[in-house]
Order: sequence, then structure tokens, then C-alpha cells
Amino acid sequence: MSKEVSLDDIVSLAKRRGFVYQGSEIYGGLAGTWDYGPLGTQLKRNIQNIWWQMFVEQRDDMYGLDSAILMNQKIWQASGHATGFNDPMLECSNCHSRFRADHIHDNKCPVCGKKNVFGESRLFNMMFSTNIGPVQDEGSLAYLRPETAQGIFVNFKNVVDTFSPDLPFGIAQIGKAFRNEISPRDFIFRSREFEQMEIEYFVDPKAWEKEFEKWVENIHAFLQAIGIDKTLVHQLEVADADRAHYSKRTIDFEFTYPFGKSELLGLAYRGSFDLENHQKASGKGLEYRPKDGSKPFTPHVIEPSFGIDRIVLALLVTAYASDEQNGEKRTYLKLSASLAPVKVAVSPLLKNKQELVKKAREVYEVLKKEYGAVMWDDNGNIGKRYRRQDEIGTPYCVTIDFDSLEHDDVTVRDRDTTKQKRVKISNLLTELKL
Ligand code: GAP
Repeated sequence: MSKEVSLDDIVSLAKRRGFVYQGSEIYGGLAGTWDYGPLGTQLKRNIQNIWWQMFVEQRDDMYGLDSAILMNQKIWQASGHATGFNDPMLECSNCHSRFRADHIHDNKCPVCGKKNVFGESRLFNMMFSTNIGPVQDEGSLAYLRPETAQGIFVNFKNVVDTFSPDLPFGIAQIGKAFRNEISPRDFIFRSREFEQMEIEYFVDPKAWEKEFEKWVENIHAFLQAIGIDKTLVHQLEVADADRAHYSKRTIDFEFTYPFGKSELLGLAYRGSFDLENHQKASGKGLEYRPKDGSKPFTPHVIEPSFGIDRIVLALLVTAYASDEQNGEKRTYLKLSASLAPVKVAVSPLLKNKQELVKKAREVYEVLKKEYGAVMWDDNGNIGKRYRRQDEIGTPYCVTIDFDSLEHDDVTVRDRDTTKQKRVKISNLLTELKL
């Protein structure tokens, strides 16, 4: 199944309404970077909060982490990224544009259009490098992390020493990752700076298959909790030859974006690859000592890895809806109340009538205190306000009119049905389903 919305529709709404802007825009942009505006930032935070509650706060077997982005270069040698984190790259002999080899079809350059302009591909390492301190030499070389995962592996021993967890247990972190993608594209789908929510779940090697299946279920539960359309999600069992260098089994959870079916997030069985390599390279013991005194061993790892930006995109695609109201086309975002960046908008019917503004302010203060994400909106006429709030996915608009002054009630308008009803101000908090 696919959804009738184009990427241009999404990009335009995201920019127009303050979800996502082009990075460094006033200087002509910086390829592969995006800035989240006020509403996109809130949406992203709401997604992260649901993820953190579900996978860290509500479980006994999970530990949160926030590791540094700059990490010792030896980590990337041990993990295999320094030598193996490459994409094959092709260069057009006519216009010298560079592309990821798997993005080229029929030996034709997508920029200049010439045919037969590509020779052999070259490998291109995708890590961004920098230098630590004032001297720029081999010793000061450092990389911006291309995944948050390694920050977890190198803290495995710290967490075990501090908390003595039983197996299985997991360490979770949310944070930025950086990849010098050869061809960033499709809006926030493939960028050079993006954000991940990752879990390394450490298991007894004998139990990995059972735990892997549980994570398949957990991933579906999360996607359902945030309201991603499940008919647009597909599981792809990744073939041996296509898996990352460390993985023994991987499922790509794909989503049908407007540009086609592509990866949303991944679930990988990484075996003991990372802990063993770090043990060898650092000389530090990273084995797990069972509490019953049996022989220490290196745990195996199941890794659910969620890209937040792709989840934001999938959510915008899922939520994007349109209908006709009074003969006019209306666009709205059908976001759940827990994700909507603004939960309620409060308006005085007329902004130049002091008594209406005063009453509306009182209602606004009550709602703001309860829900936080409440917007004061007195811009334009009421129709314009509704359209603006619909487009950003606000579930309810509350309007204070002249009747409100007499009856102590307000109009509550529902985003999806556009139906309005009168609600006593004293009942407002119980009436709103937030
Ligand atoms: N630790 C495992 C790992 O990083 P990955 O499949 O390379 O695995 C995990 O990345 C997720 O991160 C992807 O499924 C995707 O959601 C997100 N991701 C990867 N590269 C990205 C990029 N260039 N732009 C946006 N998101 C990206």
C-alpha cells in the first residue's frame, strides 16, 4: 500500500509551519543538514520521550546512557569502522559529480545526463574526522561517531561494575550520529547529521534467537504506540551478502515513503563481535561473570536501532491527511495527542475585545499549566486559525466568544471531525482527551 502524498507536500508543510528548515539556510544551505524548527523539535522530543518511557523507564532490565560524540580513534579501529565503514563511490568523468554506486542506473549521470561516464567504483569511508587539541597529526585524529552504539559497548564494563545487572539486560541511548554520505537525499531520510535511538541488549549466547523475536514484537509495539501506519511497514530479512560487517542476522523494518520502500530502522544480531574486538584492542576484560559462579563468557548482542529523523518523516507521511470542508480543500496532520507539538490552541474570537482576551487568557493559563504545549493563537480570523492549527496537527482549538462571558463556557473544536461543542470551563480538563 502507498499513501497519496508527495515528498514535496511534506517538505513544504514542514518548512511553512516550522517543523524542519534547511540547515544554514540564509547562507545557501549546507548539503545533508537540516534544522528542526519549534514544532519539529517538540515532535522529535515527544517521540524520544515515548521511546525512553517504553524501553528504559518502564523496564527493569534497561540502563540509560549519554556518551560523548568525540571518541578515541582506537574505538573505530576496533569496531571495524576505520577500515570497513565504506560506501562504493562512482565519479562522472564528464561533470565530476560523485554518487553512491547503488544510486546509479544504466551507467547514466543523474546530474549531467551523459551515458557511459562511470568507470570502476572506489571505496569511500563515511566517517567525519577532526583533530583534538592544537596539533593536527595522526595522534590527534578523532572521528565524530557514525553510530551511537559504540559509546554503549565501551561503557559495558562501567555499567556492569556499577549496577551488577543480570542477563539479559540492555543499555539505551539517544543522540546524534554523523556520516559523510556521498549523496544525502530525500529530505531528512538520508542526511549527514542525524539522530539515533539505540539499544544494545546483552544476552546469553544460547538465548539470542528467543530475545531477537521479542525485539521484533517490541519494535512493532513502539511503532503502534506512536501511530505509524502499520500497512506501510514491511519486514525485510537481510540476505547474508547485504548485512553489515558485524551482523549475523538483520531485519530491516522498511516504510513506504513517497519515494518508495526504504529502511526505517534496523534490528541486528551482532553476536559478540563488538565486545570481543574491544576486549582485544583495549586489553580490558569485557566478559560477563554469572552470579552463580559459573564460567565467565562474552555476552551476545541484539541491537534495535531507530533513526529518529526517518521516524519523523514516516509519521508526517502517516499523519498527512486532506478532505473538503465547505467546498474547500483542507490539509491536516492526524497526529495522536501524545505526539502533537501543540495539544490545544486557545483563541479569543476577536483579539481587540478586551473582555474576550481577558477570559481567554484565564482559560489559556489553566490549560498551559496542565498540558504545557498550549498555543495562544489570535492571528487572523477564526477560519485561518483553524486551518493553521489543522496543518500542525493540534487536536483541539478552544475559542472564547461573547456567550462565554455569560455562561462560563467555550467552544471546543475537534481537528479530525471539525465538529464543535460547548463545554463549561470547569469541565474543560476532563472533556479534552489529552
Ligand atoms: N548501530 C547500527 C546502525 O547504526 P544503521 O542501519 O547503519 O545501523 C541505523 O543505522 C538507523 O539509523 C537506520 O535504520 C536509519 O534509521 C538511521 N540512519 C542511518 N543512516 C542515516 C542517514 N544518513 N540519515 C538519516 N538516518 C540514518
